[in-house]
Amino acid sequence: MRLGMIQFEPRLGQIAANTERVLGLLQNAPSADLWVLPELASSGYAFGSREAAYAAAETLDNSSYLLALQEWARSSGSWVVTGFNERSGDLLYNSAVLLGPSGQKGLYRKLHLFLDEQNFFTPGNLGLPVFDTPWGKLGMLVCFDWMFPEVWRLLALEGVQLMAHPSNLVLPWCQTAMPGYALTNRIFTATCNRVGAEGGLHFTGQSLLVSPTGEALLRGSGDQEEVLVAEVDWQAASDKAITSRNNAFGDRRTAVYGIEIKASGEQK
Ligand code: ACM
Repeated sequence: MRLGMIQFEPRLGQIAANTERVLGLLQNAPSADLWVLPELASSGYAFGSREAAYAAAETLDNSSYLLALQEWARSSGSWVVTGFNERSGDLLYNSAVLLGPSGQKGLYRKLHLFLDEQNFFTPGNLGLPVFDTPWGKLGMLVCFDWMFPEVWRLLALEGVQLMAHPSNLVLPWCQTAMPGYALTNRIFTATCNRVGAEGGLHFTGQSLLVSPTGEALLRGSGDQEEVLVAEVDWQAASDKAITSRNNAFGDRRTAVYGIEIKASGEQK
């Protein structure tokens, strides 16, 4: 299968313009089966107030942005993971939505809120769900979630083969850390970052797709909008062997660590 990433520059508070930009990039892109878009791709990031964040939010069921992407997924037969400014009642979540050709297939709400996000958003309340796709098991994390090794390990142990990671990165470290997470968990990681600047924050681009052996399969520029596409063999993420006598999951010394987390399929 082919995985694509849309590295672009969302406009703050401009849902219609962001929808048009994403669709324009997708329509002119080479074909791909699954697309990953940045964090808060519908709305931009650095809101000046909670009111501004709220005004740029939509509900899952009544979102012009998601409806347009859903129609594109249906007509192209592809899947999409997009960051989404989600309103649910009075609350806002910094969410990632999985769309398939036949409708919405998954929702994740960012667990670890960064800087002023804590003024606008409520921390995620859906845990760390795993989603079935035609190619295998997919997990979703949003941007600063990357900093917490526990979430990568938990999802990998649940069988996730590819982690879709919509991002608006501003710190310089994530792209350095990602090959380590991919390698130690033997999974694919697809970090789709944005470019540009907002409210004094500079976003670092360099969207990155990493293989289970830690190789960069795609790497975006630091400052340009870009469409990136590569072949991904999800089965490569099912092999946790490191050598003929070592296994990334099987060799864990959980009794020593003091935490007992079983890999998916192991007896609980
Ligand atoms: C971030 O979580 N957007 C840095």
